[in-house]
Amino acid sequence: MDKPLKGQVALVTGSGRGLGFAIIRRLAELGADVAVHDISQEAPAEFGEAKNLDEVAGRLASMGVKSVAVTGTVAEQASVAGFVAKAEKALGPVSVLVNCAGGDIAAKGGKPKPNNALGVPMEDVLAIFDRNLFGTILVCKALCPGMAERKRGSVINLGSGIAHYGVDDGVAYAVAKAAVVHWTRCLAWELRPHGVRVNAISPGPTMTARFSATRALDPKMADESVPLKRYGKPEELADVVAFLAGDQARFVSGQILRVDGGMFTFPA
Ligand SMILES: NC(=O)c1ccc[n+]([C@@H]2O[C@H](COP(=O)([O-])OP(=O)(O)OC[C@H]3O[C@@H](n4cnc5c(N)ncnc54)[C@H](O)[C@@H]3O)[C@@H](O)[C@H]2O)c1
Repeated sequence: MDKPLKGQVALVTGSGRGLGFAIIRRLAELGADVAVHDISQEAPAEFGEAKNLDEVAGRLASMGVKSVAVTGTVAEQASVAGFVAKAEKALGPVSVLVNCAGGDIAAKGGKPKPNNALGVPMEDVLAIFDRNLFGTILVCKALCPGMAERKRGSVINLGSGIAHYGVDDGVAYAVAKAAVVHWTRCLAWELRPHGVRVNAISPGPTMTARFSATRALDPKMADESVPLKRYGKPEELADVVAFLAGDQARFVSGQILRVDGGMFTFPA
């Protein structure tokens, strides 16, 4: 079947650009109706990927699925309630949730300085936890009870390679993503009797527009002709999310899949 996700309704947070956009495009290609979400209409323009969120929704609709654009921070309960209600009013109950909004962004923008364990300012720790961990929790709390009631749903959270080992740069982000990973396991356990699957992917360094614009790239890692020892491509992550969303993964829950070309091969 070339449209295995037909009949599904997917909400992907932070999907106006970057990895989230690659994921929502793949879900739409596979037939899902899609709610594209971002913090604002303008977020897709920040690194030149689209004019605004409505334009992104239009691109998705041109693929022959229903789409709606919804905005709001994931870090506040009232905002989450608002954009979830708008998505479900337009498309019906969400059956696939991808929590992709996030990033290592300080309270006032940019990266925290310093960004190590003892130096990182507390306001930045809180901002990073809000964006990555509490946002994921709030959106799950808004959508998973309905999924459990309908006994239908797949949740995929975004971890990160650095959730799985100690670092001295990006510490608050690494800790928030490690908590997202463990939230995934706990929620999977709780929803197991209700037929809702919860998994996470932990990407290695992946060439999104934001990623490329915010660092000096290592030319060896940017060489796509190298089979696995390179940066990932957003489509490669999107394919794994599509697998976890769909029926081929019907007996897979509580798992964290590192999608990094084998960069980290040590135990979880
Ligand atoms: N690109 C990588 O190398 C990489 C590696 C590991 C994990 N990740 C994770 O993948 C996800 C996507 O990353 P990306 O590289 O595409 O970056 P990105 O900055 O392009 O995408 C993040 C998206 O989340 C949105 N967002 C941020 N804070 C938000 C908030 N409070 N409320 C609503 N939306 C918010 C942004 O506007 C943006 O659309 C993030 O969770 C990131 O931590 C990325």
